[in-house]
Amino acid sequence: MNVRLKLNVNLIAALVFALSSCNTASKKENPETTASNSPTETQAVGLPAKEDFQSTIAGKKTDLYLLKNKNNVQAAITNYGGRLVSLLVPDKAGKVMDVIVGFDQIQPFTEGGDTYFGASVGRYGNRIAKGKFTLAGKTYTLATNDGPNHLHGGKVGFSRVVWEANQSNDSTLVLTYLSKDGEEGYPGNLNTKVTYTLTSANELKIDYEATTDKKTVLNLTNHAYFNLNGAGNGDILNHALQINADSYTPVDSTLIPTGKIEQLAGTPLDFKNPTAIGARIGASHQQLKYGKGYDHNYVLATQKSAALKPAATVVGDKSGIVLEVLTQEPGLQFYSGNFMAAKNKIKGGKQDEYRSAFCLETQHFPDSPNQKNFPSTSLSPGQTYKTTSVYKFSVKK
Ligand code: GAL
Repeated sequence: MNVRLKLNVNLIAALVFALSSCNTASKKENPETTASNSPTETQAVGLPAKEDFQSTIAGKKTDLYLLKNKNNVQAAITNYGGRLVSLLVPDKAGKVMDVIVGFDQIQPFTEGGDTYFGASVGRYGNRIAKGKFTLAGKTYTLATNDGPNHLHGGKVGFSRVVWEANQSNDSTLVLTYLSKDGEEGYPGNLNTKVTYTLTSANELKIDYEATTDKKTVLNLTNHAYFNLNGAGNGDILNHALQINADSYTPVDSTLIPTGKIEQLAGTPLDFKNPTAIGARIGASHQQLKYGKGYDHNYVLATQKSAALKPAATVVGDKSGIVLEVLTQEPGLQFYSGNFMAAKNKIKGGKQDEYRSAFCLETQHFPDSPNQKNFPSTSLSPGQTYKTTSVYKFSVKK
């Protein structure tokens, strides 16, 4: 190659690079999706780019849907798995934080593993012992995808399918999914609807609805991983947590409830008063050993309640961001990110470090189809399953 030709090749390469970085920059700086409401803000946190979620999976289009309210709170949800991808809320200094841990593009969401980041989980959130249950005299066998047990609806569940999306305004996204009779081993065609609404009171409301044509079981929940100091900003051990529960459902070594409902008072699992998540997480208690930390269903009520009730409050120690969880569900799974192991690259080029997020999954109790004393999770034709949970944000100065 003569010198002039080599120079030209280098020039072309440099131009191509400059153009491509220009392209990336303009894509990432979409003003529609970048939140910046504080003059003192140094690093604006934006929503992921819509383009990074536009794909076709199993013949269905995926996308990223954006909700916003007048307070500049913004949410991003993908119809892949009905997943909450980002939630931008201001901290005590007015700086915008993304409090949802997860990926900022679709590809890693589609890969295997145990990441339920932000997912709409179904048909049955949490575990069913040995993947078996009996309903109307018939025994059903489900996938055992968590040691000997069935977890979060199976190998694919609702978190790895494409939902139909319908967004008619800035505040509401309706997702629907038809889970066919026999899918993942469950009986009945289940028509499922999940509606995300971002209210002007800084609440993300999730309404679940379902009907079936054959008696079935279901337990729908959302599996958002929260870090109230901002995704990727350290662990959640100094977040203060309060849960409105006096009792819980203790588990065996495979995290299946023993069937007993036990009092929390006097145990390191009691969060009746606000307590740092990390304050007692290493305490010598059999349940904390089984859970490798907190991974337990808290009993909020003995049945689903007609009204929304406050279930838990969490405060980010650095941000002052307050999350209140309200629900009609009788249970709340508190999971302290014990299986997070920096195996995944998350938003902002960070890793999903050990205990760098917590989940508060509103739900019926685990393994209810096999537990006579737990509130029922069955649904019959002619009935409509309906339940609402709310994640509400504010700040504590
Ligand atoms: C939680 C569950 C944990 C773990 C996690 C996903 O809902 O309680 O045990 O499976 O999901 O890694």
